[in-house]
Amino acid sequence: MKILGIVGSPRKGSSTDLLVDMVLQGAVSRGAAVEKINISDLNLAFCTGCMECRQTGVCRITKEDSDDDLAMIIEKIARAEGLVLASPVYIRHVPGQFKNLFDRLVSQIIITPGKNPPEIKCRIPGKRNSVVLATCGNPDIKMAAETLEFLKNSAFICGNGGNIVSELAVGGLMLPCQINADERRLLEYASNFNIPEPVVDNMMKQYKSVKEQAYQSGQKLALMEK
Ligand SMILES: Cc1cc2nc3c(=O)[nH]c(=O)nc-3n(C[C@H](O)[C@H](O)[C@H](O)COP(=O)(O)O)c2cc1C
Repeated sequence: MKILGIVGSPRKGSSTDLLVDMVLQGAVSRGAAVEKINISDLNLAFCTGCMECRQTGVCRITKEDSDDDLAMIIEKIARAEGLVLASPVYIRHVPGQFKNLFDRLVSQIIITPGKNPPEIKCRIPGKRNSVVLATCGNPDIKMAAETLEFLKNSAFICGNGGNIVSELAVGGLMLPCQINADERRLLEYASNFNIPEPVVDNMMKQYKSVKEQAYQSGQKLALMEK
C-alpha cells in the first residue's frame, strides 16, 4: 500500500505537517510505503481559468511551463493507494497556495452533463481512501468545519469515490510546532496570551491524544481495502 500525504501549510515547523508525520508513521507501522509533499516546496502557477483543460484533460500551464509541478503531483496521486490531505484553517478555508493546487486539479475532473446530482469522476486512475486533517487557531474546532468539508470533497474526487477513513481537527494552535511543544514553552505561550495556567495541562493531554488518533488513522488507512 502506497500512501501520499499532502500538507497545505506554507510554514516551516507546522503543526499540520507534524500531524501528517504521525499519520504516515502509523501507516508505516502497518506496512505502507509513504511519501509526503509540502505545498511550500511546490512550483505551481495560479490557475488562469482558461478552461482549456475541460476539453483536453491537460492544464495549459503544464504544456507551456516544464518547471511547473502539477504533472508531477498528478503522477504521485496516481501511484498512491491512499491519501492524507491536511491543512491549517486560513479565514475558514485552506491557504491560497493549497486551494490553487485543487484549482489546478480541476483539469483532472470529468463532470457528466445532464445528471442530477452531477456525476463527478477523476481522470487519475485508481481508487484511494483518505484521511483528512485540519488545524486551527480557535480553540473551538467548529472553526475547521468548512476546511474539513473542502478537504473531504477534494479527497473524494482525487480518490475516485474512495472512502474518508477518518477526519481529525485540532484547535487552539498558534505557535510553530505547537503540537510538539514542551510544558515550559506552552506555559510561556499561555502567559503571553493570558491563558490560565491549568489550561496548559489540558493542552498537553489534548495534543498527546490527537497525535495518537493521527497515528491510528494512518494504521486504519494502511489496512483498508481499496
Ligand atoms: C492567514 C491566516 C489566517 C488564519 N485564519 C484562521 C481562521 O479563520 N480561524 C482559525 O481558527 N485560525 C486561523 N488561523 C490560525 C491557523 O489556522 C493555526 O495557527 C494553524 O494551526 C496553523 O497551522 P500550521 O502550524 O500547520 O501552519 C489563521 C492563520 C493565518 C496565518
